[in-house]
Amino acid sequence: MPPSLMRAARIHEYGDAGVIRFEDVPRPVPGPGEVLVRMAATSFNVSEIGLRKGLLQGILDITLPHTLGWDLAGTVEEAGPGVTGLAPGDAVHGLVSGTAAEYAVARADELAAAPTAIPLEHVAAIPVAGLTAWNAVFDEGGIGPGQRVLINGAGGAIGMFAVQLAKRAGAHVIATAAPRSREAVWRLGPDEVVDYTAEPLPGGMDVVLNLAAVPEADAAALAPLGKLIVTAATPIDAPHARHFTTGNDPARLAELAALIDKGELVVDIAETHPLTALPDLHRRAEAGRTRGKIIITL
Ligand SMILES: NC(=O)c1ccc[n+]([C@@H]2O[C@H](COP(=O)([O-])OP(=O)(O)OC[C@H]3O[C@@H](n4cnc5c(N)ncnc54)[C@H](OP(=O)(O)O)[C@@H]3O)[C@@H](O)[C@H]2O)c1
Repeated sequence: MPPSLMRAARIHEYGDAGVIRFEDVPRPVPGPGEVLVRMAATSFNVSEIGLRKGLLQGILDITLPHTLGWDLAGTVEEAGPGVTGLAPGDAVHGLVSGTAAEYAVARADELAAAPTAIPLEHVAAIPVAGLTAWNAVFDEGGIGPGQRVLINGAGGAIGMFAVQLAKRAGAHVIATAAPRSREAVWRLGPDEVVDYTAEPLPGGMDVVLNLAAVPEADAAALAPLGKLIVTAATPIDAPHARHFTTGNDPARLAELAALIDKGELVVDIAETHPLTALPDLHRRAEAGRTRGKIIITL
């Protein structure tokens, strides 16, 4: 019997957004300890622009052809041998490579139960952005009560989680937003919002999170504003600047899911599109014409 096929967004070579192809490929089969997940959605992450251009070679383990997508939100379709704790029908999420496809395979222990308070498609907003925000706020930033924190790039996907987590930690949060993001950022509950396109950024910060791929000169200008800069974007050449790469963490995903189910963490979706919108999204994002979390339904 021929293997079942599924639709996937793949690249066979590095280049501009035109290298993204939509192909019918064999549906993966779960091995020992793995599950096959019927994808509800993945999400668009700006870091995939760098991946598509070949800039992440040597940083991530990538072989071509490569299926795009890092965020997994879906339902277990089939459990491989030896899987305990997950069964067909379970709604899950995780940070897994190759999720811009109708099905994805993941190790069962890489996944966490999806929150139930939001649609499963919106859950795809959580893994990359939520875990990166958690790393920035807690692991790298050490943000705690009473600290003055500047979050530059709060209008983006990571910023959405970072502002809320820093506020929960008890910090005084100053978020930056261009006019297009101002309302959405205010809804996250910061103490102050600064329009980085029109006003200088305030100094005297305990922690500065730079979540925006700013020009190098702007990045350098962030260095004197606070004792520590935690950046997920443009490298900043300062002795107190720390850079990091986020990995999957199902225990933290479970904590994020619990906060969402308790109504203590909001997931705000900016746009939702089908898989075929990916090349256009890549082009718009490269031109600076996207903001916030963008869901890709499958
Ligand atoms: N280290 C890691 O593991 C890791 C993981 C994921 C992502 N990243 C990186 O982290 C960065 C943020 O990711 P994201 O998904 O949150 O991206 P995003 O959704 O594109 O958000 C970035 C936001 O920054 C704001 N912005 C743009 N130019 C700015 C400027 N000059 N000054 C201040 N703010 C500006 C924009 O909001 P407004 O202009 O509307 O205010 C934009 O929405 C990206 O560079 C991404 O590659 C790193």
